[in-house]
Parts: sequence; C-alpha cells; structure tokens
Amino acid sequence: MRYASITDRLASLGSEKWAVHVEARRRKAKGVPIIELTIGEPDLPPHETLITEATRSMIAGRHRYSNGRGEQVVVDALVRKYFKRRPDVTGDNVLCFPGTQTALFAVMLGLVEAGDAVLVGDPLYATYEGVIRSTGAEQITVPLRPEHGFHMQAADLERAITPQCRVLLLNTPHNPTGAVLTAEEIAAIGEVCRRHDLWIVSDEVYEELIFDGAFASPFDNPALAERTIVCSSISKSHAAPGFRSGWAIGPAEFTHRLLAVSETMLFGQQPFIADMTAYALDNPVETSAIMRRSYKRRVDLIVSALANAPGLMPFAPEAGMFIVVDVSGTGMSGEEFAWALLDEEEVAVMPGSSFGAGAGDFIRLSLTVPDEKVEEACRRMAALAARSGLRKAKRA
Ligand SMILES: Cc1ncc(COP(=O)(O)O)c(C=O)c1O
Repeated sequence: MRYASITDRLASLGSEKWAVHVEARRRKAKGVPIIELTIGEPDLPPHETLITEATRSMIAGRHRYSNGRGEQVVVDALVRKYFKRRPDVTGDNVLCFPGTQTALFAVMLGLVEAGDAVLVGDPLYATYEGVIRSTGAEQITVPLRPEHGFHMQAADLERAITPQCRVLLLNTPHNPTGAVLTAEEIAAIGEVCRRHDLWIVSDEVYEELIFDGAFASPFDNPALAERTIVCSSISKSHAAPGFRSGWAIGPAEFTHRLLAVSETMLFGQQPFIADMTAYALDNPVETSAIMRRSYKRRVDLIVSALANAPGLMPFAPEAGMFIVVDVSGTGMSGEEFAWALLDEEEVAVMPGSSFGAGAGDFIRLSLTVPDEKVEEACRRMAALAARSGLRKAKRA
C-alpha cells in the first residue's frame, strides 16, 4: 500500500526521541525501582477549584458541540489576560486549541509548506522538528550557545537565514535549557525578523515558571505585533496538562484564516474544559508559585550535588521544569550516558540528542520529582561519572 510522505518525514521524530523514557517505564512496570527524571509532568495536581469547576460545568450540561474559535467565556478570559500585555487585543485575535502542541501544529500549517523553511534555536523542544516537517517545510537551526546562557543571538539568527525562511519558532522560557530572553534581546531578534519579513511563533508555555527576573515576549513589542503569534496553555502554569487546554493569539487576519483549518481538525473545544480554563485564567491560585519554589530549590540541589562530580557540568536554568547537564567530560555522549545511567544506576533521564544536534553532549533532568530522589539521582550520576573516569584510564 502507498502512504503519504508525511508518515516518512515524521517516522523518526515521534516516540523514538523518548526511547529511554519508554524503556524506563517498561522496566518500572516489571518492578525495577527506577528514579524517573525524564518528562515534564508537574508533580502536583491542578488546584481543586479547577476540578470542581470542570465537574460543575459538566453536570450543568456543558458537554455539547462548541465552535472552532472557542467558547465565548474562554475567549473573553484570554482577551482579559492578553489585554494587560497589549491593549489592542480582542476576541478576533484568539483561537482555542487542545494544548500548545496542537496550537503549534495548526499555526505552522497556516504559515508554511513545502519549499519554505522555519528557523528554530538548537537545542529545541523535542516535538518542534516534527511540527515543522509535517508541513513539508525544512527546519533550519540557529545555535544557542552555552557561553551566551543559551540565549538566541540576533547575529546567529541573521547568519542562518535563507531566502526560503518564513518563520522563526521562538521559545522563551526555553525547554530544555531554561533560558529566558530579555526584552532587549527580543527587540534585536525582532528587528532581524522585520528585515527579512519573518513570522515569529512564540511558544510561551513556561511563562509562569520564571525563577527570577521578568518575562518578555515579541507579542508585547508593538513593532512586532503584526508578525507575532503566541501559543500557550494551562498545562504548565496550572499543572493541568491532561486537560489539554491551550490557545493561539495572533493578528486577526491570521486567526480568521486559521479558523477554517482549526474547524476542519477539531470542531471546537469541550465547553466544560473552556469553563474551567476561563475560571483558571480569572482566578489566580498558588500552583505556579509552588512549582517555581520547588523547581528552583531542586536546581540548587543539583548544582551543588554535581559541583565536584568528575566530567559533569550542570547549567542552572532561569526558568522551567528542567536542567541540562553537559556530560562530555565523562567521555560519553548524552545518549551513551543516559543509557548507561538507566542500565547501571536505574536512573532515567532524557538524552540531549532528543533536543537537537546542539544538545548531543547533554542530558536533561526533570525537576518534577521529590528532593530526596533528586539527591539520590545525583549521587548515582556522580558514581557513573567517576566510573567513566576509571574506564577512560583503563583504555589509556
Ligand atoms: C516548549 C514546550 N512547548 C509545548 C509543550 C506542550 O504543551 P501543551 O501541554 O500545552 O501541549 C511543551 C510540553 O512539555 C513544551 O515543553
């Protein structure tokens, strides 16, 4: 039988990136006591008021068909949220989606196709390449350098641009590095985008998880308003990934054009999820503050626990749920270290290669497990790193 080329383009871009995680879960199910530091699943439940609101709404009969843009109640709540950042925002700028991931997919489908190219920083979030390639467009990476704290530099962006480029897919706060761009850096990046007439798709899913310092976005810069589309959700801010509730905010003409794509894909969002999301956006709870405190504390634990570990260099993030560690000093790639750590120490981490060629020397640890487990995982990583020194000495 014949298949469409999208299945070939995406063949190695899906679950293969999560091979260590999948294998760790398989061993765990067999009773191996693995410490799992792979995925970014918040370690606390959504606030009980969100569950109460979703339940209330369902019982009230809010489980009928919706519409492609989103229930008015959540569109209004999103206008209130984004109006604080840009007072020209109206409901015409809003489209609701089941999560940032779907929003990114639909938005990219509305902007590029075969023959086009999309720029993205490397390291990059594991699903981005699939999002870009599913449209038929090419991915062009912009190096995010450790010496710049993984902040994208306007000059690096400029150098990577080709005549095919249509979009910059920007992610701040960044997964996996936790880098948070400043307003000045965004202005410089935006100026390059303006000169080359690029769209900016801004994935802001970690907006609420900045440890210190301020959030900045191209959306808030009036000079970039006409070319910026924000994608985000309540998955991280409200520890509610399973509700699958997100959105895209962009120029009215774009959302109007994308509405038909969204209606074809989704036929609307569940009204009881919309009610719960509107409630979540309008009624601040302490969930993100709790996460910020715990994740920052675990960053500090990891940095001090690995300070003297031979060959391991952690990079403290400015935000988010993860920390990356350069393991190249052990003589192993991130991929080799991750598999050895699983096999020899029963600790599961993500190999950096799942986040682009630029992260090949790294592993990524999730900050969403209790402190004791984080400390124990660090002891085991240090033990593996120390043994790798012995292996290297034996080889020499
Ligand atoms: C950078 C980034 N974008 C998007 C997503 C997906 O978010 P959502 O649950 O809203 O689809 C994630 C999830 O980990 C992420 O890290």
